[in-house]
Amino acid sequence: MSTPALQETTSKPLDSAWVRAQFPSLKLQVNGQAAAFLDGPAGTQVPRQVMDAVQNYFLTGNANTCGAFATSRANDATIAAARGAMADFFHCDKDEVVFGQNMTTITFALARAIGRELKAGDEIVVTTLDHDANVAPWRALEEKGVVIRQVDIRDADCTLDLDDLMRKITSKTKLVAVGYASNAVGTINPVAEITKLAHNAGAMMFIDAVHYAPHGAIDVRALDCDFLVCSPYKFFGPHMGTLYGKRERLLQFKPYKVRPAPDALPDRWETGTQVQELIAGIGAAVDYLAELGRRQDASAKDRRSALLAAYRATRQHEAALLGRMIEGLLGIPKLRFFGISDPKRFHERCSTISIRIGDHNPTEIGKFLGERGIFTWDGNYYALNLSERLGVEQQGGFLRIGLVHYNTAEEADRLVAALREFARR
Ligand SMILES: Cc1ncc(COP(=O)(O)O)c(C=O)c1O
Repeated sequence: MSTPALQETTSKPLDSAWVRAQFPSLKLQVNGQAAAFLDGPAGTQVPRQVMDAVQNYFLTGNANTCGAFATSRANDATIAAARGAMADFFHCDKDEVVFGQNMTTITFALARAIGRELKAGDEIVVTTLDHDANVAPWRALEEKGVVIRQVDIRDADCTLDLDDLMRKITSKTKLVAVGYASNAVGTINPVAEITKLAHNAGAMMFIDAVHYAPHGAIDVRALDCDFLVCSPYKFFGPHMGTLYGKRERLLQFKPYKVRPAPDALPDRWETGTQVQELIAGIGAAVDYLAELGRRQDASAKDRRSALLAAYRATRQHEAALLGRMIEGLLGIPKLRFFGISDPKRFHERCSTISIRIGDHNPTEIGKFLGERGIFTWDGNYYALNLSERLGVEQQGGFLRIGLVHYNTAEEADRLVAALREFARR
């Protein structure tokens, strides 16, 4: 099975100075040291454009939707613009974009709606590599007699065991739920190929792209998936979730909704009043990425092309940081590295790293780094199946280091030096 559809063409070097100037919070100091935000997988920082858009909502468009007066119309226009931005982001039509509180809430709601149509004995395939938000909502359908089949990993490199996947997709499979990239070890899954396998078996494909979205361009048309979810707070936007659904699928399933709410797309899936100020911020986050793309490639005319140019540049930047960091980490005594470390295979992973050092509890390491202004994450980050499968759940899980495009080589070196110091103690 081939590896993921990434844009591997080269870009001119990322304009890091411009990027960092867009993110005011990157100037934060901790104990007299510059903060190094290596906590992106739990939520990225936001550019000034996003903050301005949220503020502008309150200044000029703070009203509920569809009223016959100026602020309500302004809000309608902002939401429509944000939906258009997300349609370019996903590469779909506007009415196929659904906003929601976060990926977890959206997925539970979708699973409940899909579950209405399933019967005992129907099967859903989930994986050991996934965040629990792409496992628990489907497991909840076990109450109805739906059978959940879980695909294993190859623990040597933390990739999905594709032979196991092929065995588990059968004529009884109704849906395959797979992550685009692991939020723990960074593995990128061959989701286009898995979508074909699912469709050949007559099943739907649901992709959790929450972790992939800050690292690579998403193209739901090319993937041909039925559903794809991601959360703007992981790609430089505010704390919300978004869903792409193929139009026929969004029409096929019946969400639980209040009677007076519209039944048209996409409204039928957006229950209650949305966090409208944050939807304004989502549009601005996508436009920030497009602005970055135009700076990287002046020939990128429309927003979609600009987004592709942005990701070409950020991916190249992140791969360079990743190589530098992995090389440094592998030289640290007693460091256990999880996942793909060979630079020749970087197209199969993104720049999120999980490690352990000896028997140290990862919280202890995270604290040590935090006191030095370096922000990382410790625990299982809700990738519970994986931390159990790798036998680290009872020992505090992993330490996660997340690199995104606003991180620098200097920050990567600082992290490695601090971990070396920790390991020497
Ligand atoms: C891969 C992945 N999927 C799903 C989620 C859940 O997203 P949300 O916080 O939007 O519910 C996360 C959050 O960390 C994640 O990393």
